[in-house]
Amino acid sequence: MTRYALVTGAGQGIGFGIAKRLTDDGYHVYTTDYDEELAKAAAQKLGGTALQLDVGNPESVKAAAAKVPELAVLVNSAGIYPWSPLLSISVEEFDRVFSINVRGNLLCMQAFHPQLAADGKGAIVNITSMSALAPAVGVGSYAASKAAAAMLIQQASIEFAPDGIRVNGVAPGSVQTEGTNRAIKEGDEPQKAPFIPLGRLAGPADMASVVSFLASDDAGYVTGQNIVVDGGFLNNTFALYRHVSQPA
Ligand SMILES: NC(=O)c1ccc[n+]([C@@H]2O[C@H](COP(=O)([O-])OP(=O)(O)OC[C@H]3O[C@@H](n4cnc5c(N)ncnc54)[C@H](O)[C@@H]3O)[C@@H](O)[C@H]2O)c1
Repeated sequence: MTRYALVTGAGQGIGFGIAKRLTDDGYHVYTTDYDEELAKAAAQKLGGTALQLDVGNPESVKAAAAKVPELAVLVNSAGIYPWSPLLSISVEEFDRVFSINVRGNLLCMQAFHPQLAADGKGAIVNITSMSALAPAVGVGSYAASKAAAAMLIQQASIEFAPDGIRVNGVAPGSVQTEGTNRAIKEGDEPQKAPFIPLGRLAGPADMASVVSFLASDDAGYVTGQNIVVDGGFLNNTFALYRHVSQPA
């Protein structure tokens, strides 16, 4: 029996990595993205079904949900991460970040709830961020949005449990993707990761394997968790302290 999974923001980066892994796991995957061409290219590579879905647009979410009759797994990966110090965040930027990173998760969880409930053991995995747990200069609207997204996971986990739907999250550390490559400034050396105890940046597959577990029956008693997948970075603050306190 075919089981179906849907990934938002599946056109590239972590979303595409997750769509690939779920395809390898045997799901038929709806590769969705607000960029229709990216969604189509992903579906072509994976043998899935492309859907245009802008998580920031309630009508687009509704229209996509109407085209999906069955669903076992929903992965909310679409997200944006503009860089702005708090004093320069505009109203437009703040609202856009929250409409995609938080409201988008809520709208998709609402819209696909009937299909996931009908499945009997539906699973939702939302991609948050280590920024939900620790601040960094310049990512204020993003960090606040991911903290809100993390709480939505806990909230949904208790409200959807009676419908047999588990809700979990993955909080990535630094993952090399098309999006982060664009954000890296010229002269930076992204391969060097001195403060990551596991010694390297992550790739999308590192996130996808945890999503695969959370979506699977092996995680059948796991709900409301937001698993940090950061190579040990958040636990390594003492290394940063030693770095800044060394004489120049
Ligand atoms: N890359 C990292 O280091 C990192 C770290 C922590 C968390 N994350 C989170 O992982 C997710 C994916 O990040 P990434 O680095 O792969 O990003 P990316 O920019 O490489 O890819 C994002 C994808 O989402 C799509 N998208 C953007 N806005 C959309 C919208 N409104 N509706 C539907 N699709 C939309 C884009 O077209 C693109 O295909 C995001 O939620 C991000 O916050 C990434």
